[in-house]
Amino acid sequence: MASDTQPVSQTERRAPRAAQASATATSTAKRPASGARWIVPAKIAVFIAAWYPLARIVLFGMTDRLGANPIEFITRSTGLWTLVFLCITLAVTPLRRLTGITALARFRRMLGLYAFFYATLHFTTYLWFDKWFDVAAILKDIGKRPFITVGFAAFVLLIALAVTSPRAMVRKLGRRWQTLHRAIYAIGGLAILHFWWMKAGKHDLILPKIYGAIMVALLGWRLIVWLRERRLETRRPPGTARK
Ligand code: HEM
Repeated sequence: MASDTQPVSQTERRAPRAAQASATATSTAKRPASGARWIVPAKIAVFIAAWYPLARIVLFGMTDRLGANPIEFITRSTGLWTLVFLCITLAVTPLRRLTGITALARFRRMLGLYAFFYATLHFTTYLWFDKWFDVAAILKDIGKRPFITVGFAAFVLLIALAVTSPRAMVRKLGRRWQTLHRAIYAIGGLAILHFWWMKAGKHDLILPKIYGAIMVALLGWRLIVWLRERRLETRRPPGTARK
């Protein structure tokens, strides 16, 4: 899961160690008052709003509005919200770069952890109410149904990111943390594939196409930025470090 203290751009990644250490120290030290004024209420608002999908399920459950197949409703609702939080998490960096509002990066970890939270609810619904903890049946399903295989792969990668999301892990893993957290791009791709294959069987590809286009835009933007920065790096005369 992306950390809100994580250095994100190519420039930041290539900064000398001392500069990186000082950047980390600055980001964990007291933040400028201009950012602090709106960021705490905004973070609280996002934290509360992110509970809406679960609150909706609970409310529908209590008022008998989960439909004829409540398990299917919960599985689909939590699956879709996992995807929504993945897209929002992946949108933070482009928004930060396009608007210049660097404080946006401080929402990323929380949003990523909500993606993990809804993925866990999604998987637990499947594990508990669909398969009744029958491990053999689950393994068979993972091996047999491609949409379950890729969904499971995405979930395993999300677990790795969630476990390594605390700041202590960012510090401990150093550069390896960034390499590991690039798995978020693979998760995005696998999530779309999971959704696409599931809906292809039902001949209903409207939503997978919409989310697929969003994901292509989010990942495509990163690819373009990365290629541009790489080109700039290779054009730079040797020995002229970037400021
Ligand atoms: C990052 C991980 C995952 C994401 C983003 C995700 C997303 C989704 C989405 C968007 C749907 C369709 C919702 C709809 O119909 O509107 C869905 C359905 C489903 N997913 Fe996942 N999923 C993930 C992981 C998993 C895992 C690990 C499993 C089980 C091993 C799983 C099992 C299912 C099942 C059984 C359905 C419903 C199929 C049906 O109703 O016919 N998903 N998922």
